[in-house]
Amino acid sequence: MTVLAPSQVDMATSLAGFVAPNPVFTASGCAAAGRELAQFFDVAALGGVVTKSVMLAPRSGRPTPRMAETPSGMLNSIGLQGPGIDAFVADDLPWLLARGARAVVSIAGTSIDEYVALARALRGRPGVAMIEVNISCPNVADRGQVFACDPWAAARVIGAVREKAAPTVPVFAKLSADVTDIVAVARAVVQAGADGLSMVNTLLGMVIDPVTMRPALAGITGGLSGPAIRPVAVRCVWQVHQAMPEVPILGMGGIRTGLDALEFVLAGASAVSVGTAVFGDPGAPVRVLGELSAALAERGFDRVADAVGYAHR
Ligand SMILES: Cc1cc2nc3c(=O)[nH]c(=O)nc-3n(C[C@H](O)[C@H](O)[C@H](O)COP(=O)(O)O)c2cc1C
Repeated sequence: MTVLAPSQVDMATSLAGFVAPNPVFTASGCAAAGRELAQFFDVAALGGVVTKSVMLAPRSGRPTPRMAETPSGMLNSIGLQGPGIDAFVADDLPWLLARGARAVVSIAGTSIDEYVALARALRGRPGVAMIEVNISCPNVADRGQVFACDPWAAARVIGAVREKAAPTVPVFAKLSADVTDIVAVARAVVQAGADGLSMVNTLLGMVIDPVTMRPALAGITGGLSGPAIRPVAVRCVWQVHQAMPEVPILGMGGIRTGLDALEFVLAGASAVSVGTAVFGDPGAPVRVLGELSAALAERGFDRVADAVGYAHR
């Protein structure tokens, strides 16, 4: 086996027609629209910047406290705080485009109509490399049932977005691991037109403060992220890649190092997102990228694409 220098590894990756120069992205909600990270590194150095899920109208998110520490992770109930799609399109998207970053725009809604309106608002906008559809939102028309937990509801959202989005822009469905059979949801959204899958979103969790003897978060439950969820996320990527090896996956959940990222690639992810790790180490995405290319070189891979799904062989 020839050991290559990390710089000799071809890190380019293809996500349903969107070719990124490398497979390391930010994770939605952990770096807003990239501005906070720009003081630490060049956002164009990443494969892409996945923006915080944007909704139609501006929102202030949930009441505080909305973060709690957990063993090897954190619990958040930020809610979908943000400027709304008009401000996003006017300010954030041009900022990313001007820096040469590839924007993966995450959208979220509480009804199919809202998702459709968001997809329409993004159609034809320069700088949108991909749309990631966050379906871990309560469906107001179905007693707050989360879209991502119901294959039929998830498929309806994705089908509607795929129809309205520009045909050249890949649409990725972001799945939740809080389901009995993630492959069933993955199949449903792919049949409805998803070009790829992002997995996984935070897992539903809860912390009770032993001092107050009450839930630690004002929102009672929250989303668990960080290394604590990594084995669950790797399992989800593995199962879906096994069932549908042709569908590109953007994998995430507790990635802190290049070896963590490698695990996702070997399980079947064509690219990865780094989320919670940036709160402790804002430079984590670029560090992970360097470590991943070194890890691939050490293992004799001259292209990251050759390592995708390798653990299945
Ligand atoms: C504070 C915080 C906010 C998040 N906001 C969003 C969001 O707006 N949309 C979304 O799809 N995922 C959101 N996520 C989930 C992450 O994108 C990611 O799927 C999850 O945290 C697992 O990756 P990680 O362990 O690297 O953070 C958020 C996660 C955190 C910790």
